[in-house]
Amino acid sequence: MSTARKIRPLVAGNWKMNGLKAGLGEACKVRDALKAGGGSAGAEADVMICPPATLVAALAQDAVGSRLLVGGQDCHAKASGANTGDIAAEMLADAGATAVIVGHSERRMDHGELDAEIRAKAEAAHRAGLIAIICVGETAGERAIGLTLQVVGRQLAGAVPKGATAANTVVAYEPVWAIGTGLTPTAADVAQVHQFMREALSKQLGSEANSMRLLYGGSVKASNAKELMGVANVDGALVGGASLKADDFCGILAAYCK
Ligand code: 13P
Repeated sequence: MSTARKIRPLVAGNWKMNGLKAGLGEACKVRDALKAGGGSAGAEADVMICPPATLVAALAQDAVGSRLLVGGQDCHAKASGANTGDIAAEMLADAGATAVIVGHSERRMDHGELDAEIRAKAEAAHRAGLIAIICVGETAGERAIGLTLQVVGRQLAGAVPKGATAANTVVAYEPVWAIGTGLTPTAADVAQVHQFMREALSKQLGSEANSMRLLYGGSVKASNAKELMGVANVDGALVGGASLKADDFCGILAAYCK
Protein backbone atom coordinates (compact mmCIF):
# COMPACT_ATOMS: atom_id res chain seq x y z
CA MET A 1 0.00 0.00 0.00
CA SER A 2 2.65 2.47 1.06
CA THR A 3 4.61 2.27 -2.19
CA ALA A 4 1.57 3.55 -4.05
CA ARG A 5 1.27 6.70 -1.93
CA LYS A 6 1.20 9.90 -3.95
CA ILE A 7 2.16 12.10 -1.04
CA ARG A 8 5.46 11.51 0.70
CA PRO A 9 4.58 11.32 4.38
CA LEU A 10 6.22 13.28 7.16
CA VAL A 11 6.77 11.97 10.65
CA ALA A 12 7.75 14.84 12.94
CA GLY A 13 8.70 14.59 16.59
CA ASN A 14 7.76 17.53 18.79
CA TRP A 15 9.96 17.44 21.87
CA LYS A 16 8.03 20.32 23.47
CA MET A 17 9.91 21.70 26.52
CA ASN A 18 12.01 18.58 26.94
CA GLY A 19 15.64 17.99 26.23
CA LEU A 20 19.07 19.15 27.35
CA LYS A 21 22.23 18.83 25.27
CA ALA A 22 22.75 15.33 26.60
CA GLY A 23 19.40 14.33 25.12
CA LEU A 24 20.64 14.94 21.58
CA GLY A 25 22.03 11.44 21.71
CA GLU A 26 18.49 10.12 21.19
CA ALA A 27 18.10 12.29 18.07
CA CYS A 28 21.46 11.05 16.83
CA LYS A 29 20.26 7.47 17.23
CA VAL A 30 17.30 8.31 14.99
CA ARG A 31 19.68 9.93 12.51
CA ASP A 32 21.86 6.84 12.49
CA ALA A 33 18.85 4.54 12.05
CA LEU A 34 17.84 6.59 9.02
CA LYS A 35 21.36 6.35 7.65
CA ALA A 36 21.41 2.61 8.14
CA GLY A 37 18.15 2.37 6.22
CA GLY A 38 16.05 -0.73 5.79
CA GLY A 39 14.04 -2.41 8.54
CA SER A 40 12.46 0.05 10.89
CA ALA A 41 13.96 3.22 9.48
CA GLY A 42 10.88 4.81 7.93
CA ALA A 43 12.48 4.77 4.50
CA GLU A 44 9.29 5.96 2.86
CA ALA A 45 8.77 9.08 4.95
CA ASP A 46 10.48 12.35 5.67
CA VAL A 47 11.57 12.38 9.30
CA MET A 48 11.91 15.47 11.46
CA ILE A 49 12.66 16.33 15.06
CA CYS A 50 11.58 19.66 16.54
CA PRO A 51 13.69 20.09 19.68
CA PRO A 52 13.47 23.08 22.02
CA ALA A 53 14.91 26.25 20.47
CA THR A 54 18.12 25.93 22.49
CA LEU A 55 18.97 22.71 20.64
CA VAL A 56 17.95 23.56 17.06
CA ALA A 57 21.42 24.67 15.93
CA ALA A 58 23.21 21.78 17.61
CA LEU A 59 20.82 19.19 16.21
CA ALA A 60 20.98 20.75 12.75
CA GLN A 61 24.76 20.42 12.97
CA ASP A 62 24.47 16.79 14.05
CA ALA A 63 22.05 16.11 11.20
CA VAL A 64 24.28 17.46 8.41
CA GLY A 65 24.71 14.81 5.73
CA SER A 66 21.79 12.73 7.01
CA ARG A 67 18.14 12.78 6.09
CA LEU A 68 16.99 13.83 9.55
CA LEU A 69 15.22 17.20 9.29
CA VAL A 70 15.12 19.75 12.09
CA GLY A 71 12.25 22.07 12.97
CA GLY A 72 11.33 24.73 15.51
CA GLN A 73 8.25 24.68 17.75
CA ASP A 74 7.07 28.28 17.35
CA CYS A 75 8.16 31.57 15.80
CA HIS A 76 7.27 35.23 15.98
CA ALA A 77 5.48 36.85 13.05
CA LYS A 78 8.12 39.55 12.66
CA ALA A 79 11.63 39.10 11.25
CA SER A 80 13.26 41.12 14.05
CA GLY A 81 12.40 43.69 16.67
CA ALA A 82 11.90 44.54 20.31
CA ASN A 83 10.32 41.21 21.26
CA THR A 84 12.18 39.87 24.26
CA GLY A 85 12.26 36.12 24.41
CA ASP A 86 10.76 35.55 20.98
CA ILE A 87 12.40 33.83 18.04
CA ALA A 88 12.01 34.89 14.41
CA ALA A 89 11.46 32.35 11.66
CA GLU A 90 14.60 33.73 10.04
CA MET A 91 16.56 32.81 13.17
CA LEU A 92 15.30 29.24 13.05
CA ALA A 93 16.27 29.02 9.38
CA ASP A 94 19.67 30.51 10.21
CA ALA A 95 20.12 27.83 12.89
CA GLY A 96 19.45 25.08 10.36
CA ALA A 97 15.72 24.42 10.75
CA THR A 98 13.67 23.72 7.65
CA ALA A 99 10.24 23.88 9.31
CA VAL A 100 8.42 25.31 12.29
CA ILE A 101 5.30 24.22 14.15
CA VAL A 102 2.76 27.03 14.58
CA GLY A 103 -0.54 27.11 16.43
CA HIS A 104 0.07 24.08 18.61
CA SER A 105 -2.81 23.75 21.08
CA GLU A 106 -0.39 24.26 23.97
CA ARG A 107 0.51 27.67 22.50
CA ARG A 108 -3.13 28.43 21.85
CA MET A 109 -4.00 27.60 25.47
CA ASP A 110 -0.89 28.75 27.37
CA HIS A 111 -0.23 31.89 25.34
CA GLY A 112 -3.69 32.82 24.09
CA GLU A 113 -2.74 32.48 20.45
CA LEU A 114 -5.61 32.98 18.02
CA ASP A 115 -5.93 32.01 14.38
CA ALA A 116 -4.96 35.42 12.94
CA GLU A 117 -1.68 35.40 14.86
CA ILE A 118 -1.03 31.81 13.88
CA ARG A 119 -1.60 32.71 10.23
CA ALA A 120 0.90 35.57 10.59
CA LYS A 121 3.40 33.11 12.07
CA ALA A 122 2.83 30.72 9.17
CA GLU A 123 3.40 33.59 6.75
CA ALA A 124 6.60 34.41 8.62
CA ALA A 125 7.72 30.81 8.21
CA HIS A 126 7.12 31.05 4.46
CA ARG A 127 8.96 34.38 4.29
CA ALA A 128 11.96 32.69 5.91
CA GLY A 129 11.80 29.70 3.58
CA LEU A 130 10.51 27.34 6.26
CA ILE A 131 7.68 24.83 6.05
CA ALA A 132 4.86 25.87 8.39
CA ILE A 133 3.33 22.95 10.30
CA ILE A 134 -0.03 24.43 11.26
CA CYS A 135 -1.87 22.66 14.10
CA VAL A 136 -5.62 22.46 14.48
CA GLY A 137 -7.92 20.38 16.66
CA GLU A 138 -10.92 20.44 18.93
CA THR A 139 -11.11 20.17 22.72
CA ALA A 140 -12.97 17.38 24.52
CA GLY A 141 -15.80 19.77 25.28
CA GLU A 142 -16.14 20.82 21.65
CA ARG A 143 -16.17 17.21 20.52
CA ALA A 144 -18.78 16.29 23.13
CA ILE A 145 -21.25 18.76 21.65
CA GLY A 146 -20.53 17.84 18.05
CA LEU A 147 -18.43 20.88 17.10
CA THR A 148 -15.33 19.05 15.84
CA LEU A 149 -15.66 19.84 12.14
CA GLN A 150 -16.86 23.36 12.82
CA VAL A 151 -13.85 24.10 15.03
CA VAL A 152 -11.35 22.53 12.64
CA GLY A 153 -12.96 24.36 9.71
CA ARG A 154 -12.74 27.69 11.51
CA GLN A 155 -9.10 27.09 12.44
CA LEU A 156 -8.18 26.17 8.86
CA ALA A 157 -9.97 29.21 7.46
CA GLY A 158 -8.31 31.49 10.00
CA ALA A 159 -4.81 30.08 10.30
CA VAL A 160 -3.83 28.80 6.84
CA PRO A 161 -2.40 31.62 4.70
CA LYS A 162 -3.77 32.29 1.22
CA GLY A 163 -0.38 31.58 -0.33
CA ALA A 164 -0.01 28.18 1.31
CA THR A 165 1.27 25.44 -1.00
CA ALA A 166 1.86 21.74 -0.64
CA ALA A 167 5.58 22.50 -0.53
CA ASN A 168 5.53 25.14 2.19
CA THR A 169 2.69 24.01 4.43
CA VAL A 170 1.73 20.95 6.44
CA VAL A 171 -1.47 20.74 8.49
CA ALA A 172 -1.53 18.67 11.67
CA TYR A 173 -4.84 17.54 13.14
CA GLU A 174 -4.28 17.18 16.86
CA PRO A 175 -7.43 16.68 18.92
CA VAL A 176 -6.56 18.43 22.17
CA TRP A 177 -8.05 15.63 24.27
CA ALA A 178 -5.79 13.08 22.58
CA ILE A 179 -2.54 14.91 23.36
CA GLY A 180 -0.54 13.20 26.08
CA THR A 181 -3.53 11.22 27.31
CA GLY A 182 -3.09 7.86 25.62
CA LEU A 183 -6.51 8.39 24.04
CA THR A 184 -6.95 8.48 20.27
CA PRO A 185 -9.94 8.97 18.02
CA THR A 186 -11.12 5.89 16.16
CA ALA A 187 -9.74 5.37 12.67
CA ALA A 188 -13.19 6.29 11.35
CA ASP A 189 -13.18 9.57 13.28
CA VAL A 190 -9.70 10.43 12.00
CA ALA A 191 -10.81 9.57 8.45
CA GLN A 192 -13.81 11.87 8.74
CA VAL A 193 -11.78 14.85 9.98
CA HIS A 194 -8.98 14.36 7.46
CA GLN A 195 -11.43 14.05 4.56
CA PHE A 196 -13.11 17.22 5.79
CA MET A 197 -9.75 19.01 6.00
CA ARG A 198 -8.82 17.93 2.46
CA GLU A 199 -12.09 19.33 1.14
CA ALA A 200 -11.93 22.54 3.18
CA LEU A 201 -8.34 23.18 2.06
CA SER A 202 -9.33 22.50 -1.55
CA LYS A 203 -11.90 25.27 -1.30
CA GLN A 204 -9.29 27.59 0.23
CA LEU A 205 -6.24 26.71 -1.85
CA GLY A 206 -7.42 24.85 -4.93
CA SER A 207 -5.35 21.98 -6.28
CA GLU A 208 -2.46 22.63 -3.85
CA ALA A 209 -4.59 20.94 -1.23
CA ASN A 210 -4.51 17.65 -3.13
CA SER A 211 -0.88 17.02 -2.28
CA MET A 212 -0.62 18.90 1.02
CA ARG A 213 0.49 16.69 3.89
CA LEU A 214 -2.15 16.24 6.58
CA LEU A 215 -0.64 14.80 9.75
CA TYR A 216 -2.41 13.19 12.66
CA GLY A 217 -1.11 13.94 16.16
CA GLY A 218 -2.19 12.89 19.65
CA SER A 219 -0.91 9.81 21.52
CA VAL A 220 0.70 8.27 18.43
CA LYS A 221 2.93 5.39 19.46
CA ALA A 222 4.49 2.33 17.88
CA SER A 223 1.48 0.17 18.75
CA ASN A 224 -1.10 2.37 16.98
CA ALA A 225 0.99 4.03 14.26
CA LYS A 226 0.31 1.51 11.55
CA GLU A 227 -3.45 1.77 11.97
CA LEU A 228 -3.52 5.57 12.24
CA MET A 229 -1.07 6.09 9.39
CA GLY A 230 -3.11 3.74 7.23
CA VAL A 231 -6.20 5.99 7.40
CA ALA A 232 -7.14 7.74 4.16
CA ASN A 233 -5.78 11.30 3.93
CA VAL A 234 -3.35 10.77 6.81
CA ASP A 235 0.08 11.65 5.44
CA GLY A 236 2.16 11.20 8.53
CA ALA A 237 2.26 11.99 12.22
CA LEU A 238 3.15 14.70 14.69
CA VAL A 239 4.48 12.86 17.72
CA GLY A 240 5.02 14.22 21.22
CA GLY A 241 6.01 11.91 24.06
CA ALA A 242 6.96 8.98 21.85
CA SER A 243 9.50 11.09 19.95
CA LEU A 244 11.75 11.59 22.97
CA LYS A 245 13.28 8.12 22.88
CA ALA A 246 14.82 6.87 19.66
CA ASP A 247 13.47 3.35 20.10
CA ASP A 248 9.89 4.61 20.51
CA PHE A 249 10.18 7.02 17.60
CA CYS A 250 11.76 4.43 15.32
CA GLY A 251 8.91 2.10 16.28
CA ILE A 252 6.52 4.67 14.78
CA LEU A 253 8.70 5.13 11.70
CA ALA A 254 8.36 1.39 11.15
CA ALA A 255 4.82 2.12 9.94
CA TYR A 256 6.52 3.54 6.87
CA CYS A 257 8.85 0.80 5.75
CA LYS A 258 8.36 -1.47 2.81
P1 13P B 1 1.65 13.22 22.35
O1 13P B 1 2.17 12.38 21.20
O2 13P B 1 2.54 13.21 23.55
O3 13P B 1 0.23 12.91 22.63
O4 13P B 1 1.70 14.76 21.84
C1 13P B 1 1.17 15.08 20.62
C2 13P B 1 1.55 16.47 20.29
O5 13P B 1 1.09 17.41 20.91
C3 13P B 1 2.54 16.67 19.22
O6 13P B 1 2.60 18.00 18.83
